[in-house]
Amino acid sequence: MTEDDEPDVQLESRLEEQAEFTPPASFVEQANVSDESVYEEFEENWPDEWERAANLLEWEQEWNQVLDDSNEPFYQWFVDGKLNASANCVDRHLDERADEAAIEWIGELGETRTYTYEELHREVNEFAAALRELGVGEDDIVTMYLPMIPELPIAMLACARIGAPHSVVFGGFSADALAERMNAANSDVLVTCDGYYRRGDALDHLSKARNGVSNVESEVTTIVADRLGDDAPTAISDDEYVFSEQVEANSGAVVDPVVRDAEDMLFMMYTSGTTGKPKGVKHTTGGYLSYAAWTSHAVLDVKPDDTYWCAADIGWITGHSYIVYGPLALGTTSVMYEGTPDYPDKGRFWEIVEEYGVNQLYTAPTAIRAFMKWGTEYPEAHDLSSLRLLGTVGEPINPRAWKWYYKHIGNEECPIVDTWWQTETGGMMITTLPGIKKMKPGSAGPPLPGISADIVDPSGDPVGAGRAGHLVVNKPWPGMLRTLYKNDERFLNEYWDEYSIPERDQWVYFPEDGAKVDDDGYITVLGRVDDVINVSGHRIGTMEVESAIVGVEGVAEAAVVGGNHEMKGEAIYGYVITEDGQDETEEFRAEIVAAVEEDIGPFARPEAVIFTPELPKTRSGKIMRRLLEDIANGDELGNTSTLRNPDVVHDIESKVQGD
Ligand code: WT7
Repeated sequence: MTEDDEPDVQLESRLEEQAEFTPPASFVEQANVSDESVYEEFEENWPDEWERAANLLEWEQEWNQVLDDSNEPFYQWFVDGKLNASANCVDRHLDERADEAAIEWIGELGETRTYTYEELHREVNEFAAALRELGVGEDDIVTMYLPMIPELPIAMLACARIGAPHSVVFGGFSADALAERMNAANSDVLVTCDGYYRRGDALDHLSKARNGVSNVESEVTTIVADRLGDDAPTAISDDEYVFSEQVEANSGAVVDPVVRDAEDMLFMMYTSGTTGKPKGVKHTTGGYLSYAAWTSHAVLDVKPDDTYWCAADIGWITGHSYIVYGPLALGTTSVMYEGTPDYPDKGRFWEIVEEYGVNQLYTAPTAIRAFMKWGTEYPEAHDLSSLRLLGTVGEPINPRAWKWYYKHIGNEECPIVDTWWQTETGGMMITTLPGIKKMKPGSAGPPLPGISADIVDPSGDPVGAGRAGHLVVNKPWPGMLRTLYKNDERFLNEYWDEYSIPERDQWVYFPEDGAKVDDDGYITVLGRVDDVINVSGHRIGTMEVESAIVGVEGVAEAAVVGGNHEMKGEAIYGYVITEDGQDETEEFRAEIVAAVEEDIGPFARPEAVIFTPELPKTRSGKIMRRLLEDIANGDELGNTSTLRNPDVVHDIESKVQGD
């Protein structure tokens, strides 16, 4: 070791030991929210204090009541309030910020596009006019199946403008998954694109979209954004509309924002749950937008003059709330990056931070673990001093990754917010307020002001400090889902039935996560307790993967579990019993993997497919997934005494170890 290394090593070991960090004074001084009293104010003046969030928006008509809880748990927020989300995210910034950038888009090949608020306004209006011309009316659901190109937020805001809820399907989903979601939503308008670049290659997206459309029950109107030009592997056909032509044909059009009720649906988003059928989470115009704006303001410390970057995909809820709606509602500049962090090289993120002078960076622990592995030389080669705040989302962050992020990206001058929330919550729920609270690596922090959470045992009683239990949220909040699309029953059954006691008027939301709480009220989220696997911050239902696998000819039975993974957090393990006569070959394994990619998408690709003669089952015939998880993790096996076939686990274990 050279002498030069010494100070760094000391710093490293100091960080290693340190369990608590106070927010840097330079940050606190300028923070949007820095007065501790905010917690008390929300508590004492609940629910009315939530007007703080609503007041960040411009309303056509003020609400008459902050919360209507007369029909629990079908809560309503900002009752009788009227507004339009597109007007809030675009029009109202025109007076002061017309020439400021709303979206800074960076393509993977290095090309860039800047949309000022004025330009965004123009294009949103033109596309809104086009949608109307194509017959889209208020409350018609428009599906978007797009990668990270500007047409996506433009289409979303155009929908919001005419009161047509959008349903964005992540571009990595398969054709089948797209069709399933369009059918479930009765959506017959699709906005997609010809393709996009990934690591320099032009990928065909249009064929996938068309395959999906061919399985949609109704006649679909398809609008295709021309992203690839001459590079496109598949040409746009005559029965499809071209995005840019539609915009051009409506050049200069002005579409008055449709006045929407606070409780009108702004969008829906499908997410995975316990059964194979995705859940269509419904979010509203008033409550959701207020909540996205408030959390962007209070947690991400977004100010209009900032250049803010959330490096998620708009195809997931993180991008909806924190690339599009939250930041644009606040009139800031939102960076949108099309590509991957390691193309053209592993310094790409830091190059963007430096070039654009990014002030906040919000990303996932999976990405941070990758940066860590690649080494400090990449961030060190760039000036990251513009950064003021760092955030993480999507999965638990291990303290080592947290500290690396704090030191090597934040230079120990940026608070980190570890934000726990879900598709269903609309926005952040548990995290420190960066200008107020100390940070504890690995622990998300206390619930935000106005949010009330607890860790309970199976009977619903709080477990007390230090013990693990189920996380519950016991008061409603403005950003909460209102129901599952056309399925109130499943909404009650999935989220409320477990711990609510309606007779006592106690309504408790169950997010299906396990957690523990410290003496100081800091919550550490441990992970899903339902049959959902969190791979790199993406939620994948085990049932969805299982049904893809059992659909393969030659498969008799399958069980899918999540195992720990150093980089991805969790990875998918599939245990498969083959039918008699089916050879357990590598080719067959590949066929199974391909089936999962086809049914769901490449991001759901199993890490391993393990052939087994039997699955561990209880006497009542239930598969003991817990044991399969232990095997995947190489952990000591839990109790096998309740098994009908205890010997099988050791057989499987030796197979996995042998593989
Ligand atoms: C699930 C929600 C939140 C938007 C992106 C994912 C896990 C999320 C954290 C965190 C530990 C987290 C939970 C949650 N999760 N954030 N900071 N610490 N776990 O949204 O796809 O709806 O997934 O992600 O398990 O339930 P989602």
